[in-house]
Amino acid sequence: MLQKPYSSQDIAIAKSKINRFGFYEAPESEFFARFSPAYITSNENLKREVSLTPNAHDVLTIAGSGDQALYYKMAGATHVDTFDISYCARVIQDIKTTAIHQMSYMEYFVLLETLHTSYNVAKIPLISQMSPYLPQDTLNFINDMNGYPMFSRGINPFFSPCLHPTRAEYKKMQLCVPAQFNFIWSDVLSLHTKLSSQYDVINLSNIFSYFENEQITQTIESLKPFLKVSGYIVFCGVYRINPAAGLPDLKTKEYRMAPLSRYKQIITLQKVK
Ligand SMILES: C[S@@+](CC[C@H](N)C(=O)[O-])C[C@H]1O[C@@H](n2cnc3c(N)ncnc32)[C@H](O)[C@@H]1O
Repeated sequence: MLQKPYSSQDIAIAKSKINRFGFYEAPESEFFARFSPAYITSNENLKREVSLTPNAHDVLTIAGSGDQALYYKMAGATHVDTFDISYCARVIQDIKTTAIHQMSYMEYFVLLETLHTSYNVAKIPLISQMSPYLPQDTLNFINDMNGYPMFSRGINPFFSPCLHPTRAEYKKMQLCVPAQFNFIWSDVLSLHTKLSSQYDVINLSNIFSYFENEQITQTIESLKPFLKVSGYIVFCGVYRINPAAGLPDLKTKEYRMAPLSRYKQIITLQKVK
């Protein structure tokens, strides 16, 4: 019997924090936590993001909705590892890679729409259909979290067609995406203690918005040893514009102002060695 990477007490705590709308009821500092619901679809411009580092072979990326890894693979990365603080991110990522190999383009979108609002993922017919191909860990978690919406974050796929792969891209994914990506379950703050190889790109997209500048600088320093020569750390996010604090010494390239003037969306590359 496979040893679960979490206890039944962990699951009870997770359930007590996810309310019936899928929101994680915790202070802002715990908004993202070990079992907080995952995004069903990325809200980032991933095509643009991955195009900034066109020769990246070995990539470590936030798992998020699972889309980040898929887009790096489509852009030609040979090896993609993923990490996330939330186990739900691992589960949506496994569901997506498995679905890509088992389902038609249309079925894939029906599945995502259904997952986004579902309280009983195990009972979704498309999930039952692909269950023989899902990793046992992922199936266990789906069953343990029965009754709770695990993928309620982000934009409903029905309302965000521009964020989805095209039919041609889906075909490409079917050819290049592995059955599963390696997933490291970790807070970015301790990620460096769990790494053993070096990457061309470490994508820390969208996770620093609520970090203090000192924490951002420390995290970047801790990850530098895991970048190859000429490797990049990629940031992307909606950051609060705080002229007093600002971001640490980063060369920022601004792509688009968000509608709210206090925030700006930036993608930043930092060449480290
Ligand atoms: C901040 S969210 C934003 C969503 C993202 N824009 C996307 O396209 O999926 C991205 C992911 O970061 C993860 N995350 C947030 N804080 C983290 C941390 N301290 N360490 C590791 N992962 C974290 C969340 O669990 C979530 O899956």
